[in-house]
Amino acid sequence: MTARVALIGAAGHGSWHLRAIDALGERVRLVATCDVQAGFDYTDHRRMLAERKPEVVIVCTPPHTHLPIALDVLDAGADLLLEKPPVLSLADHRRLAEAARGRVLQIGFQALGSPTLPMLADRVGAVRSAAVAGAWWRPDTYWTRTSWAGRRGRDGALVNPFAHALMQALAITGIRPPWTLSLDRYRTRAAVEVEDTATLRLTVPDGRSVFVAVTLCSGEFVPGDISVVGDDGTAEVGYAQDRLDGEVLPGRIGLLENLLDHREHDAPLLVPLERTEPFTALAEAILAADEPVLLAPARLARRDDGMEIPGAAGLIRRAATERAHFREIGAFQ
Ligand SMILES: NC(=O)c1ccc[n+]([C@@H]2O[C@H](COP(=O)([O-])OP(=O)(O)OC[C@H]3O[C@@H](n4cnc5c(N)ncnc54)[C@H](O)[C@@H]3O)[C@@H](O)[C@H]2O)c1
Repeated sequence: MTARVALIGAAGHGSWHLRAIDALGERVRLVATCDVQAGFDYTDHRRMLAERKPEVVIVCTPPHTHLPIALDVLDAGADLLLEKPPVLSLADHRRLAEAARGRVLQIGFQALGSPTLPMLADRVGAVRSAAVAGAWWRPDTYWTRTSWAGRRGRDGALVNPFAHALMQALAITGIRPPWTLSLDRYRTRAAVEVEDTATLRLTVPDGRSVFVAVTLCSGEFVPGDISVVGDDGTAEVGYAQDRLDGEVLPGRIGLLENLLDHREHDAPLLVPLERTEPFTALAEAILAADEPVLLAPARLARRDDGMEIPGAAGLIRRAATERAHFREIGAFQ
């Protein structure tokens, strides 16, 4: 069976989806690409949907445009692979869930297709906590690459580049609201309204917790691995490379392939919208939080292409190990 697939939002991260479509060979036929930028089959997604009648549509446009485009796709009768974050508020999540009844809707948190996830219970037993430590480098151009980059209510290190780490930690712990959330967020550039460096702590009444320590201003790379503590042991999960305690596991399942398997023989869908609701609840709270603290230039080292926080990797490791906010370990005081 060959599914007729279309891609909306083709020029940016969409090129990754074009490669994924290509890799599926005969199982899919790309019937249209659509982008508001010139150079693709269509600039208007409604026209594309009406004329090309795709069975499956991938939406890879900026997050704040997801909901109206997704509603159009579902209304046209197509199944949908919608990039992460699906939407930015719980009200939009509910609208999307309503519209998706009777259709297949998969959300692009691809790390949930990692073979490390089903192995964890055997390794650690019931999970008590997950802590993320990620120290990356993003140059100044990262914040000017697209119109929504660095914009308050739309972007931020926690909800965008480290979204997979957050989603994975939520999935590993099974934590859902109601929870207690505390944040400690910083930025290094006056022109960027959102955090590039942050810690986040989530706890639920039974004691389970998620802790996240991340920065985009580190000279030294820390991948964003997740330290998991369970009743029967501990584990280190490298969600991006499918590493579990140092061993790379085979068997990552692609989200488009899984969506096709679900359509064709009812394989369980890996990332239904419902599974991402805790992420949306968390993203909504982060996006509504106060403006992050602007770090003083004296705390920073200016590199040719961006802002470095000297010693950032060490701070991130310490915060994640101690599950302590930067302000609790005296950083940036
Ligand atoms: N899963 C991942 O690992 C991953 C990685 C990067 C980005 N993303 C997600 O992919 C999406 C796109 O990210 P990006 O960095 O490519 O963003 P982007 O700002 O570069 O936009 C992507 C494309 O969408 C086009 N576009 C905007 N509005 C459109 C519309 N109404 N109709 C058609 N095309 C439209 C833009 O012209 C652009 O080419 C976001 O949701 C982002 O969070 C996911």
